[in-house]
Amino acid sequence: MKKLAIVILGASGDLTKRKLIPALSNIFKQGIIDDSSIIIGSGRTEFSNKSFRETFKVPEDFKKIIYYHQGIKGIKAYIQQKCDCSQIIFFMALPPSVYVNTAKKLFKEKFGKDVRLIIEKPFGYNYETAKEINTNLHTYFDESQIFRIDHYLAKEAVQNILVFRFANSLFYPVWNSGYIESIQINAFENIGVEDRGAYFDKAGIIRDMVQNHLLQLLSLLTMESPISLNAEDIRNQKKNILRVLKFSECHRYQYKGYLEEKGVTGNSTTETYAELKLYIENFRWTSMPVYIRVGKALNRKGTEIGIKFKQIPALLFNKDRQVPANKIIFKIQPAEGIVVDITSKKPGSGLSLTSTNMKFCFRDFFDGSVDDAYLKLLIDALNGDKTLFVSSDEIEIAWKKIEPFLDNGNLQYYNKGIVPETNFNINWIDFENYASICG
Ligand code: BG6
Repeated sequence: MKKLAIVILGASGDLTKRKLIPALSNIFKQGIIDDSSIIIGSGRTEFSNKSFRETFKVPEDFKKIIYYHQGIKGIKAYIQQKCDCSQIIFFMALPPSVYVNTAKKLFKEKFGKDVRLIIEKPFGYNYETAKEINTNLHTYFDESQIFRIDHYLAKEAVQNILVFRFANSLFYPVWNSGYIESIQINAFENIGVEDRGAYFDKAGIIRDMVQNHLLQLLSLLTMESPISLNAEDIRNQKKNILRVLKFSECHRYQYKGYLEEKGVTGNSTTETYAELKLYIENFRWTSMPVYIRVGKALNRKGTEIGIKFKQIPALLFNKDRQVPANKIIFKIQPAEGIVVDITSKKPGSGLSLTSTNMKFCFRDFFDGSVDDAYLKLLIDALNGDKTLFVSSDEIEIAWKKIEPFLDNGNLQYYNKGIVPETNFNINWIDFENYASICG
């Protein structure tokens, strides 16, 4: 078994307690690491090993491999003193403004080409800042050492998009704009900004959710088949999609009451909801619109992708154009599954048609709960597998594409718990109708 030193930088923050330590505890429980590895929390706050351990509710045998080191200076000697580790992994649970300086400090501590750096989002604020972070990081560490997290890539139902597309022949021939009328992506949350007002107010929903998570979903859904399942080959194909995205419209909204949230500036024009329209300018997807709706403080939590097929010709059953177009709904969360909407005959004499569906629900086929995204990401990072991490190129291209729409245009307002009126002249798929399926 590999002897690892996993160092969490910014360890007194919320992410450590909520996600990282529970995921590492699970990794320990699964026997992927044992007590020959160590976990070191590092931050500005003063802790003893004991008082740091006490901040977590995890089993005692796991607690014993947790240590604390204040600051970065001297941390290399500290690691060497605690373990003869073959691999050192740093998790930067830090704000982006200090990524580069932290990398510089690690470099000064003489950490070299053998360490890995896991970096959280947000990765920059726009194209310029993302590029600057990347360039500066690369002066201290190679791209091969950097693992940029997008936790959506580790969601089970997101990973299943590639399997659905490239392990089933059924949908392969129709996966193009010849058959598909539009793609609609929905990412609704019922919570508002909660205690993250100060962060969110500088970001807004487009930076927070679209530039990263939703464009990653779209790339997986629309990219060409990679030449292998290698991380590099998959990332290259995603990059090819990002390069040909063309955003054509964006409408920004803010929920009423947002300005009173803690950490939000009184006259903020930050958007908490947005709808966007874009095209993918390549042969496969030419002239097919992609619509995105994303926001906070809505009526429910749900991330779904809808593939709306073109209508069948106005013949036979469809002479009066009443037969609805087929749809495929990817239920990313909650209640993961895939639903295919089809038209069927109503039983009985006469010929009347009705909408029905076929479904695959994760819970019907697989036991147990779906693994937490951080658990998978950490295991992959320990193994050096970069498939679920985002490259510097992907990040920069995505920023470049979306940049003209950041902080731009009128702001409309909506009441909490109510999906705002759309500005697009389309029939949105009513994803709420699918909410109970697979639930
Ligand atoms: C995070 C955003 O990246 O994703 C949050 O910063 C958002 O604002 C969250 O709430 C949504 O993640 P999930 O997994 O709950 O859909």
